[in-house]
Amino acid sequence: MKKYLGKIPEELQGLLNKVHNIAARKNTEAYLVGGFVRDLILGVKNLDLDIVIEGDGIGLAQDFASSLGVKITVHRQFGTATVFVRPGLKVDFSSSRQEHYPSPAHLPLVKGGSLKDDLNRRDFTLNAMAISLKDGKLVDYFGGLNDLRHKVIRVLHPLSFIDDPTRIFRAIRFEQRYNFKIEPESLKLLRQAVRLKMLERIHPHRTRDDLVLILKEKNPVKEIKRIEKLAGFDFILPQLKIIPKTYALLKAIKREIGYFHKNYTGRRPLDTWVIYLMGLLESLDAKKIKNICAKFGLRKGEEKRLLSYKRSQGRFLTDLSRASIAPARIFALLEPLSYETILALRAKYNNPVFKRNITDFLDIYNGMRISVSGDDLAGLGVLPGPRYRKIFTQVLKAKLNGQVRNKEEELALIKQLLRKRS
Ligand code: CTP
Repeated sequence: MKKYLGKIPEELQGLLNKVHNIAARKNTEAYLVGGFVRDLILGVKNLDLDIVIEGDGIGLAQDFASSLGVKITVHRQFGTATVFVRPGLKVDFSSSRQEHYPSPAHLPLVKGGSLKDDLNRRDFTLNAMAISLKDGKLVDYFGGLNDLRHKVIRVLHPLSFIDDPTRIFRAIRFEQRYNFKIEPESLKLLRQAVRLKMLERIHPHRTRDDLVLILKEKNPVKEIKRIEKLAGFDFILPQLKIIPKTYALLKAIKREIGYFHKNYTGRRPLDTWVIYLMGLLESLDAKKIKNICAKFGLRKGEEKRLLSYKRSQGRFLTDLSRASIAPARIFALLEPLSYETILALRAKYNNPVFKRNITDFLDIYNGMRISVSGDDLAGLGVLPGPRYRKIFTQVLKAKLNGQVRNKEEELALIKQLLRKRS
C-alpha cells in the first residue's frame, strides 16, 4: 500500500507524516491530490503538494504551519490555504468540495462535498486521483491510473471544456509536456468547444495566466504548434497569423535562450515566456501589441519589453550591423534594452556582425561602470550639477572605446576635459 508514498523524497515524507498526524488528531483523513499524485506515479519531480481533507482544510493548514513555524496565507472565501515550507516548496490545503458552473467559462460556485465530489470536479482523469496519507492507498474513481499507463488525457464528463475552457489549454499543455495523446472522444469535445468559441469567453486575465504557463513549458514551440492546429489564435486576436516564418523565429528564440543560459549563468534569470511571446506576436504591429497588453492585463515592464523589441529597427539595426561600430555606440544602443529584447533581436536578425556586436556587448560592455565618483570631481573643484553627468558620460564612452583603462587614466582625462573648457 505504501507503493506510492515510498517513492516520495524523505523531506516530503516527513512533512506528509506531520500532516497525517495532525489530521488524525482531528479525526479526519488527509489525501494528496491532483498534479502531485500524477507526477509521483510518472516519476516526475514536483514540489507543489496539494492536500484535501473531508473537514476543515484551513484549520489543518494552520496547525501544520505553526508546527513548522513557517508562513501561511489563507483564502477564506475559497476555503483554501497555502503553507510555504521553504523557497520552492509549498503545500496547498483545502476542504473537499463540489463545484457547479452557473454559466459556461465563468468561475464555479463551490460548496462542501466528499472526496469523491472533489475529484469529480477536476479536469482530467490523470489529475483526479488521490493518495491517502493514512495507508498510502490510491483513490482512483475514474480510471486515472489506467489512462496514465496508456498516456491518455481524458475529461471526466462531456461538458468539461464548456464549463471551464481553460482546460483546452491544459489538455494541450499536458499532452505536449508528457508526450501523451488526448483521447479521441475528449479531442472531439475539445474541438467542439473551440468551434463554439469558448476560448473567447474566458476572462482575458485567466487566458493570460494559461498562456504564460504554456510559454513557460520546456518546449513552447511544440505547444504553440499544437494550439495553432487545434484551436488557432483567434482568442488573442483574429488577425494574429502564425506562419512558417514565425516558427523559424520561435526556434531561433529557443536557441538564443540556450545560448544565454550556457554562457551567462551569473546574470539575472530570464523571463523566457516574454521572449516567446515576442516571437508569437511577430506578425502584429506595435499598436496591436499595445492593445493586447491592455486586454490581457500584462504588466508595464512586460509591455515595455514587447514594444522595445517591436520598435528596435532602422538606425538601430544598420548601426549594429556595422563591423566598424564604436563600442560606446553598441553600449548606448543595447544598455537600455532588456536581455529578453536583446535575445529576441539576436534570434530575428541572422546577420553575423549584428550577432557578434551583441555578443561583445554581453561579454564586455554590459554593466560596465567607471571608477571615478562625484567625490573625485569635487576634489578637482567641479561644483555639483548637470555637468557631472556630462563628464561621467564622456569618461564612460572613453572607457568603452578603450581610451582609458583605470582610475588614474580616467582622472587624467577629466583634467584634460576641464582644461579644454576653461
Ligand atoms: N484543476 C482542474 N481544472 C483547472 C485547473 C486545475 O481540474 N482548470 C485541478 C486539477 O486536478 C489539477 C489541480 O487542480 O491537478 C491543481 O491545479 P494546478 O496546480 O493548476 O495544476 P497541476 O495539475 O498541478 O499542473 P502543473 O504541473 O502544471 O502545476
